[in-house]
Amino acid sequence: MSDLMRAMTISEFGGPEVLQLREVPRALQVRDEVLVRVHAAGVNPIDAKTRAGGGMSNAIPTLPWILGAEFAGVVENAPYELSPFQPGDEVFGIVPLARYPGTYAEYVSAPSMSLVHKPTNLTMQQAAGVPLAALTAWAGVVDIARVCTGQRMLIHAGAGGVGHFAVQLAKFYGAWVATTASAENHEWLRELGADQVIDYRNERFEDVLDAPVDVVLDLIGNVRDNTGSRSLNVLRDGGLIVNVPTGSWATIHDEVAAAGRGLRASGLKLADDGVALRTIAQLFAQGDLQTHVDAVYPLSEAGAAHERVMQGHTRGKIVLDTLS
Ligand SMILES: NC(=O)c1ccc[n+]([C@@H]2O[C@H](COP(=O)([O-])OP(=O)(O)OC[C@H]3O[C@@H](n4cnc5c(N)ncnc54)[C@H](OP(=O)(O)O)[C@@H]3O)[C@@H](O)[C@H]2O)c1
Repeated sequence: MSDLMRAMTISEFGGPEVLQLREVPRALQVRDEVLVRVHAAGVNPIDAKTRAGGGMSNAIPTLPWILGAEFAGVVENAPYELSPFQPGDEVFGIVPLARYPGTYAEYVSAPSMSLVHKPTNLTMQQAAGVPLAALTAWAGVVDIARVCTGQRMLIHAGAGGVGHFAVQLAKFYGAWVATTASAENHEWLRELGADQVIDYRNERFEDVLDAPVDVVLDLIGNVRDNTGSRSLNVLRDGGLIVNVPTGSWATIHDEVAAAGRGLRASGLKLADDGVALRTIAQLFAQGDLQTHVDAVYPLSEAGAAHERVMQGHTRGKIVLDTLS
C-alpha cells in the first residue's frame, strides 16, 4: 500500500474552486482507529460553509485540510486482532468534524466507536450519505424531542438530507408529521410517511396547519423567510422548537425567552454517536428507513458537488464517488 493517497483538499478558505485534488500522506491510523478504504463520501452543507470560512473552519488545526465527515468503505486495517472490524468488512461511519482529516479521500482513519457494519441492502453510495444527516435527525427527533405516539411534529425542509430521515424517524416512532417542501417533493414525502406536506413557496405553514404542534424541527431557521421565528406561532403552550442551523440559535432563544408563553427551545450539536448509528443501520436493514441519493460526483468534482449543495434544494443526499 502506498504511503500517499488522493484527497480533495483546501489550502485556503473561499469558493468551490479552492477544493483541489492532491496527493497527500495516507491517513494515519492510531489507537483504536480503523483504517478504511473510502468508496464514497457524503457531502453536507457544513462542508460548504467550512470551505467558505464559516462553519467549523475555526476548528481546523492546519491547512491544507481534507473536508468531509461521513463515509462508506471497506476496512483496510483493523486496530487489533479481535477488533469487530476486520479487513474486508463493509462499514459506514462518521469522523469528528474538523478534528479528524476528512472523508473526501481514498482513505480515512475512523474511531471504532463511530463506525458500524454497513447494512447489505444499502449501496456504498447510499450508505455514505447516511451518518451525518441521520444522526442529526436522530438527535433532534429522538434524543431532544423524545418522539412518541400521537406527538404532533412540524419538520421544516423534509426533502433535504436531515429532513428526509427526520420525517421517517418521527413516523416510525408514532408521531403525526407535517413537513414543508417544494411541490415536486410532495408525493415522495407522502411515500416516506408525511401526513401533511406544505408547499412553502405558495402557502404559509401558519395558515394551513389546522391545530398547533408539540414540536417544530427547524432545519431552515431565520436564514430564509423568518422560518424559525414564525414557527413559534404554531407551537402549543409548552411546545418545543429544535433549531438546527447554527445561524439563528440566539434569535430563537431570545424570542422564546421574551414570548412569556412557556415555549421551550433548543439548539442541536451533532454527536459522533456510534450507538445511535447502529440502531439506524438496523432500521435500514429491516426496511424501516430508506434514503435517496440525488446526485453522485467523482472525487475530483467535489467543487461542483458543493455548488449543488449550496443551491439548497438537494433531495436526500449528494455523494462523492472516491473510487473514480
Ligand atoms: N447543528 C448541527 O449539528 C447540524 C447538523 C446537520 C445539519 N445542520 C444544518 O441543518 C440544515 C439542514 O441540513 P440538510 O443537510 O438537511 O440540508 P439540505 O439537504 O441542503 O436541505 C435541502 C432542502 O432544503 C429545502 N428547503 C430549502 N428552502 C426551504 C424553505 N424555505 N422551507 C422549507 N424547505 C426548504 C429544500 O426543499 P425543496 O427542494 O423542496 O425546496 C431541500 O430539500 C443546514 O443548515 C445544515 O448546515 C446542522
